[in-house]
Amino acid sequence: MDTVSSLHDLRQQVLSWHQQGLNIGFVPTMGNLHAGHLSLITEAKKRADKVIVSIFVNPLQFDDKADLSAYPRTLEADTQQLASTACDVLFTPSVETVYPKGMTDQTTVTVPMIGERLCGRHRPGHFDGVATVVSKLLNMVAPDSAVFGEKDFQQLLLIKKLVHDLNMPVDIISSETYREQSGLAMSSRNQYLSEAERLLAVEIYQTLQKIKQQLKQGELNFSLLCQQAEQNLKQQGFIPDYVEICRETDLMPANHQDKDLRILIAAQLGPARLIDNIACHLAR
Ligand code: PAJ
Repeated sequence: MDTVSSLHDLRQQVLSWHQQGLNIGFVPTMGNLHAGHLSLITEAKKRADKVIVSIFVNPLQFDDKADLSAYPRTLEADTQQLASTACDVLFTPSVETVYPKGMTDQTTVTVPMIGERLCGRHRPGHFDGVATVVSKLLNMVAPDSAVFGEKDFQQLLLIKKLVHDLNMPVDIISSETYREQSGLAMSSRNQYLSEAERLLAVEIYQTLQKIKQQLKQGELNFSLLCQQAEQNLKQQGFIPDYVEICRETDLMPANHQDKDLRILIAAQLGPARLIDNIACHLAR
């Protein structure tokens, strides 16, 4: 596996692969890699000859500067992990490479509607930062396909929309949420949790499952289900941002005609903001 940091070196590599007719898959990350990230690389390799992984902690998407400086940077351990995966090139651009003129004089990308709800409402500017950096990374790498995790389901749909709306020639592939045996979705933020908080964090997944079960049993009062779940999470020590039942296609609030649903939760637990979601398909 090679590591490249400059845009010039990256483009040389990509050009040579394209000239050989090779198909390129891309997995953008912010590093501090765990098994969830690695599962995206396996997914990318299924449809690509060569896989590029990027590690870039994107300052533009952090609404909280303390969160940005605390974000775990573990390049050495990440590089070691990647060496035993299907990753061919690790791209590690600097902030200056991605934002040569700084971030205030940077053209940004805003994805309407879907970017405004859920996490968009609670983290001002976050999705503009994500949409901008993903647009830039896709233009830098020029892959045939790029893989994103369902763990960040709103981000995944936002990226699908931006690629569609801006006619970007890349297939966006979604990959299932990778979980610990307990059901807890793997996340770089889990390491902020104490042992006791980590055990408690499973409650988010269990709450999602409970809501799904109630929906499958025919419960139609969506807002009551969400309110009860929020109350229950609060009692256990979480500070929920939201518990919502949405249409799976666009994450707008679901109504009783909708059959393909996503249940989404974001909640603060001690030092970590945790998010998770599951699908719920009701019989037609
Ligand atoms: P990061 O949080 O590092 O996640 C990189 C990719 O890994 C995302 O597509 C995310 O959805 C996926 N991922 C994280 N945890 C996962 C899990 N448990 N199972 C499956 N996939 C998982 O998301 C970002 O970085 C950034 O916003 C980025 C897209 C790189 C733009 O800066």
